[in-house]
Amino acid sequence: MEVILKNPLDMHLHLRDGDMLSLVAPLSSRTFSGGLIMPNLIPPVTSKEELISYRGRILEAIGDDNFTPYMTLFFKPTYTEEFLKDIRDNLTAIKLYPAGITTNSEGGLSGFDLDEIGDTLDVMSSLEIPLCIHGETNGFVMDREAEFGAIYELLASNFPNLKIIMEHITTRDSVELLDIYDNLYATITLHHLLITLDDVAGGMLNPHLFCKPIAKRYEDREALREVALSGHPKVMFGSDSAPHPQDAKEAHFCSAGVFTAPIALQLLTELFLENSNLDNLQKFISDNGQNIYKNLEFSPKEVVLEEREFTIPNRYGDVIPMFDGKKINFSIKEVR
Ligand code: NCD
Ligand code: ZN
Repeated sequence: MEVILKNPLDMHLHLRDGDMLSLVAPLSSRTFSGGLIMPNLIPPVTSKEELISYRGRILEAIGDDNFTPYMTLFFKPTYTEEFLKDIRDNLTAIKLYPAGITTNSEGGLSGFDLDEIGDTLDVMSSLEIPLCIHGETNGFVMDREAEFGAIYELLASNFPNLKIIMEHITTRDSVELLDIYDNLYATITLHHLLITLDDVAGGMLNPHLFCKPIAKRYEDREALREVALSGHPKVMFGSDSAPHPQDAKEAHFCSAGVFTAPIALQLLTELFLENSNLDNLQKFISDNGQNIYKNLEFSPKEVVLEEREFTIPNRYGDVIPMFDGKKINFSIKEVR
């Protein structure tokens, strides 16, 4: 059996910089048409010069592949109208991190005071720049996303013309918000569709499945599956593929992030096929993202997957992927 996916998009992707960028960028650019590139470098991407130069390094790393990096800035409440107007045509979205909530987010926001951030959000609304949010508080780890729900509601209701993307949602509560606020959208990762906290820490501890937000309960995973598999128009695929070197994962103080980019299409095909929802995979993997973001540019690409056993490599360079060594049912046959 063959499955053809048209123009796959990864709307939440960490490509890093330097040697890591050279290693991982081709692993996305081979099969994806484009990706929303996260700005949490050290230091984060906060200026036009940095953004343009990072885009150039990404294009260099992908060589001849047809892949469009959709660039993002790291949210700062100091961004002015003049600054955002000037950079508008170079970016696709702005990513907001609460301070210290995840990898390289120390320069993030320390509170959601509308007096402090309102002007920037108003300008973003009028320039139609989507706001992507890592929605977690610094509360108890299993409750962080649920606690952040009140902030999503505050922002969605005060800035009704601002497109807000709840990144990598992991809970049933977040899924429910989608149908309450017109201007809330979401990305869902592959790993949160497949694993729960049991896989991370229920048996032997698996650092390669540790990420922010942490995988939750079975009922949360069920809600994520329902909304993704149904092709819900407000959700799209964002892998949150976040590579860290093996020694940063298999360590005291394991870094957060799961690396999935090169295996995402194969595993999504398996999941959607098992649930008889292959037609909706095209929506989840590309069409919904195009409708949500509007005007995403890319060169057409078709990925042909076939039902043939594939063993997930044990490593890509010094990065260990999710499910390393596991046999799965789909392989990539051709990209055209
Ligand atoms: C990401 C990373 O490593 O940059 N880590 C993660 O656990 N998801 C950052 C992020 O998206 O939170
Ligand atoms: Zn991320």
